[in-house]
Amino acid sequence: MSKWALVLVSVLSSLYLSNAYKILFISPLPGKSHSILGEGVLTHLSRAGHEVTYVAAIIPDKPIKGVTVIDISSYVSLPSDFLNLKAIMDNTHRRDLFGILPSLTNLTGNVINNGPVQALLSDKTQQFDVVIAEWMFNEVFAGFSAVFNCPLIWLSPSEPHWMILQLVDEIPNPSYNVDILSGNVPPLTFTQRVMELGSQIIGKLLKIYISGIDQEIYEKHFVPHIRNRGYPVPPYEELKYNGSLVLSNSHVSMGIATRLPPNFIPIGGYHIDSVVKPLPKDLQKIIDDAKHGFIYFSMGSNLRSKHLPAEVKQDLLNMFGELKQTVLWKFEEDLPNRPSNVHILKWAPQQSILAHEKCRLFITHGGLLSTTESIHFGVPTVGIPVFADQFVNVGRSVKKGYAKKVDLSYTMAKDLKVAIQEMINDSRYTTKIKELSFIYHHRTVTPGQELVHWVEHVIKTGGARHLRTHALTTPWYQKVYLDLAIVLLIIIIAVKYLFSYICCSNGKKVSVNNKKKQN
Ligand SMILES: *[C@@H]1O[C@H](CO)[C@@H](O)[C@H](O)[C@H]1NC(C)=O
Repeated sequence: MSKWALVLVSVLSSLYLSNAYKILFISPLPGKSHSILGEGVLTHLSRAGHEVTYVAAIIPDKPIKGVTVIDISSYVSLPSDFLNLKAIMDNTHRRDLFGILPSLTNLTGNVINNGPVQALLSDKTQQFDVVIAEWMFNEVFAGFSAVFNCPLIWLSPSEPHWMILQLVDEIPNPSYNVDILSGNVPPLTFTQRVMELGSQIIGKLLKIYISGIDQEIYEKHFVPHIRNRGYPVPPYEELKYNGSLVLSNSHVSMGIATRLPPNFIPIGGYHIDSVVKPLPKDLQKIIDDAKHGFIYFSMGSNLRSKHLPAEVKQDLLNMFGELKQTVLWKFEEDLPNRPSNVHILKWAPQQSILAHEKCRLFITHGGLLSTTESIHFGVPTVGIPVFADQFVNVGRSVKKGYAKKVDLSYTMAKDLKVAIQEMINDSRYTTKIKELSFIYHHRTVTPGQELVHWVEHVIKTGGARHLRTHALTTPWYQKVYLDLAIVLLIIIIAVKYLFSYICCSNGKKVSVNNKKKQN
């Protein structure tokens, strides 16, 4: 082929591919559910023909078309007892912000400061049209958008809450918007409102402290690359509020209706494939034989059931054995003395299981993915929340009327039995979740289409500046009109002085006049 033909081919192909964008996507958390969310994003962007560079703590099992993986799995890890069930039951691990934030800040630093990522940052041939970063209590990934001089999109794994909303809009009112780690569900009581205000204030102070550490990470590991590329170095405090959009793994059918700014796009459910995969043969057989339907029990993929204390395991087995229904228990180890209706699944195709019409009940830790899937497929739940947003997720499910909550404890088998029996014998729970499932599915476009549309929108409009509200840039003292209050105060004081001056000096004049008359 002649040189000109080659040029022609490359020009034509670049025209043809002109809608293909280059996207950098950071998925920092070495947790299975986060990798499921990450791979959902990859699937949709890849199907839309875009090229994605995926910085990931868990790499996809199979290669995905158009996706280049930067494997950081050997650099990032969470503390070993971070998600250990027994440690949580014995209360040896802090589940609040003070426990989570430092671990995550440490992790974020490791996501940036390692060979492969630093090589990507210093490689001047690498250019991106947009950076998508999973928000994990930390904004330092905004540095990627400064290095590549392109817009930034946050991917938020949970329902809207103040810490993420403040990045693109403003802090919502705590009297009806709860913290991500809270178990409260509006309408709030007096005490709950005070608690929520307290969480915001403490959280804000803690974030200010952590932000100092983030700024150091930014200066050290991003700024040299920004300079190297000859781009302006934005101050960290500006950069972290410069995200174009939040793609939020949430939907009003699962959460609580909240006012959202125009740059906050709920795409909850995008990780669920529209085609349900068939069940494996052995599982299909178990389910076919389940005359009274079946109950599915899974504590998610991060929480290892093997950390459950032995006596709790045995109580659970005994209790399940007393049920009519077949029980599918996702568990990583074989259990001896298993009743005949209880089946252990080391690996469970959760979506295909929940999609089955015989699935009567889902016992879950209440992670957002499981909560989403229960609504997607319309299966009522018993929630045993353990960690992070699971409390608020389960709290909402209970309030919505399709779930019951059981506390993780040494006596949970007993409580679980009561909950299971009540739910199996009362059709209201199923009716309720079918209603919500309808709301969930009744959207103008699928969440996957929404995702692709908004990523492209940000790129095509150079960062979607038109979606930013002035709530972000108006200082708080202006929002509460503190400046007006001060001006009024000054006027009142001034008027008061003026009056006392006028009346006093009048008084003097009067007395002078009087004196004159007397003379
Ligand atoms: C914020 O983002 C926009 C577009 O995405 C960009 O043009 C601008 O330079 C960024 N500002 C800062 C301070 O990073």
